[in-house]
Amino acid sequence: MEARDTLHFWGLTLVILPGVLGGEWAVWYPEKHICAVRRSTVIIPCSYDHPDKYGKTLKVQRTMWCHAHENCIDTKYVCHSDNKNISPEFKDRAECLVKEQKNCTLKINDIKGKDSGNYKFRFETNKHGQIWTGHPGVDLQVSELQVEMTSSKGNEPREGSFVSLNCNTKSCSLTQQEITWYKNSMLLPGTNATLHFNNVSYLHSGNYSCALKDNINTSSPQVILDVQYPPRNTSVSVSSYGDIVEGSSVTLTCSSNANPPVQRYTWFKNNASVTSEGGSGQSYSITNVTSEDSGQYHCEVINKHGAENSTAVTLTVAVKAKYYGPTVIIVVGTVLAVLALILIIFIYAVRRKAGAQREEGCRGVGPKAAVDNIYASTAEFNLPYTEHCEQNFSSQEEEISYATVNFKRQRSKRSSLRQERPEDVAIIYSTVRA
Ligand SMILES: *[C@@H]1O[C@H](CO)[C@@H](O)[C@H](O)[C@H]1NC(C)=O
Ligand SMILES: *[C@@H]1O[C@H](CO)[C@@H](O)[C@H](O)[C@H]1NC(C)=O
Ligand SMILES: *[C@@H]1O[C@H](CO)[C@@H](O)[C@H](O)[C@H]1NC(C)=O
Ligand SMILES: *[C@@H]1O[C@H](CO)[C@@H](O)[C@H](O)[C@H]1NC(C)=O
Ligand SMILES: *[C@@H]1O[C@H](CO)[C@@H](O)[C@H](O)[C@H]1NC(C)=O
Ligand SMILES: *[C@@H]1O[C@H](CO)[C@@H](O)[C@H](O)[C@H]1NC(C)=O
Ligand SMILES: *[C@@H]1O[C@H](CO)[C@@H](O)[C@H](O)[C@H]1NC(C)=O
Ligand SMILES: *[C@@H]1O[C@H](CO)[C@@H](O)[C@H](O)[C@H]1NC(C)=O
Ligand SMILES: *[C@@H]1O[C@H](CO)[C@@H](O)[C@H](O)[C@H]1NC(C)=O
Repeated sequence: MEARDTLHFWGLTLVILPGVLGGEWAVWYPEKHICAVRRSTVIIPCSYDHPDKYGKTLKVQRTMWCHAHENCIDTKYVCHSDNKNISPEFKDRAECLVKEQKNCTLKINDIKGKDSGNYKFRFETNKHGQIWTGHPGVDLQVSELQVEMTSSKGNEPREGSFVSLNCNTKSCSLTQQEITWYKNSMLLPGTNATLHFNNVSYLHSGNYSCALKDNINTSSPQVILDVQYPPRNTSVSVSSYGDIVEGSSVTLTCSSNANPPVQRYTWFKNNASVTSEGGSGQSYSITNVTSEDSGQYHCEVINKHGAENSTAVTLTVAVKAKYYGPTVIIVVGTVLAVLALILIIFIYAVRRKAGAQREEGCRGVGPKAAVDNIYASTAEFNLPYTEHCEQNFSSQEEEISYATVNFKRQRSKRSSLRQERPEDVAIIYSTVRA
């Protein structure tokens, strides 16, 4: 009961208060200094009163706002209840929100730099000379949003340090405005004017800007948060896949995430630096690879915040093996197969002949004969045998067959196998196991 009465009392008081005071001519501006962001919308609250509380005799006929003018008489207006003499600068941008109920709130869209300055409200009644201008008016200051970065490490925040980003206007301070943040033009959650990073990481790096809530047009210039860190994820990649063949060339490339970027690369082979051999760049090239180049390679990267070694890659240099194309293989294979076939037939024939000789006892069956040509087929070996051949076979190795060819001389018609001199005989196929 008590509380309710009190509330009621205060409610009545608030409603009645202007009326109570309203026995007089007055214009009230609750905010006398307003900080506005360029391209935003600003609302200038305002109310007014005059002695005739209920408007029985005095009727308000015209209301208007003027900008940067002493008494709002005979000037161009920001807004006017009759839409008269509107300044082109405010046309379609400014609006007298409420034209009755002694509420004179003004709204201006898309604030521009030259909108800054003093604003006054004035009203005129039906009675001559019964007019009022609200002095001293409202001062509007137009500014832009900006992001200020504070870091425990100065301008180059290092990973793990404290960083805060604060969004505010350059020359005046916004009161109770909600802010939205953008990182790389993506909206971030939250409406706090300050972003805190107690343990900043490279993931927080990006371009930050802020704007008044729901009005990206008021966006501040971007501030770059560039968190620095020592090299990480260092690895070596090899230019070729699979075996590295002698005589070819190979390039190793070192890559790493580091901020600032890697300042120096050092290459190691089996844990010994090979930088003196021209390996101080991001890539290490070996031309004309030899087996001595086999081994474990890694790189070490350095920036101002630290160093890191990559894991090692193992290079294995394969000895060059000759490669024959399929055609060559087929041709060679065919030739070998034909030769093998001829050989088999040859051996078969020789062995058959040897068997026949043994059966016949190699008795003289014909005249001595010399072979006039080099024979390569079985037929030519069905020659008449001399008497001596028995002796040959019996006295010499039974298990070895000789294929003999005479290189015929003029006198060879007279000669027999026995008379042959060594140089007359060419062994075209040597020993064959029987
Ligand atoms: C005046 O009108 C504005 C806009 O409609 C409103 O926000 C404001 O509360 C009003 N002021 C008073 C004192 O009624
Ligand atoms: C951040 O801004 C810089 C400079 O304006 C630009 O070079 C960079 O590409 C921007 N980065 C992103 C992620 O937008
Ligand atoms: C908003 O920022 C203020 C400092 O400007 C801080 O005290 C407050 O905790 C922040 N609020 C949230 C929800 O982060
Ligand atoms: C900061 O963050 C890193 C990685 O997220 C973590 O390893 C480290 O412990 C954190 N340091 C502090 C002081 O919280
Ligand atoms: C931003 O400005 C453009 C024109 O400059 C306007 O069309 C748009 O409505 C504005 N957006 C906001 C959220 O004010
Ligand atoms: C290291 O590699 C991991 C996995 O690819 C990645 O998530 C991480 O962002 C990298 N670290 C840095 C500092 O780039
Ligand atoms: C290089 O050093 C590392 C660590 O000291 C060791 O594990 C590795 O076996 C060494 N490699 C060679 C080829 O000596
Ligand atoms: C990288 O490896 C080389 C050779 O094994 C070693 O001398 C050096 O200290 C290592 N660097 C780091 C940062 O571990
Ligand atoms: C590659 O090395 C071999 C052996 O050292 C050498 O004979 C050859 O000329 C080299 N080839 C080239 C292209 O350098």
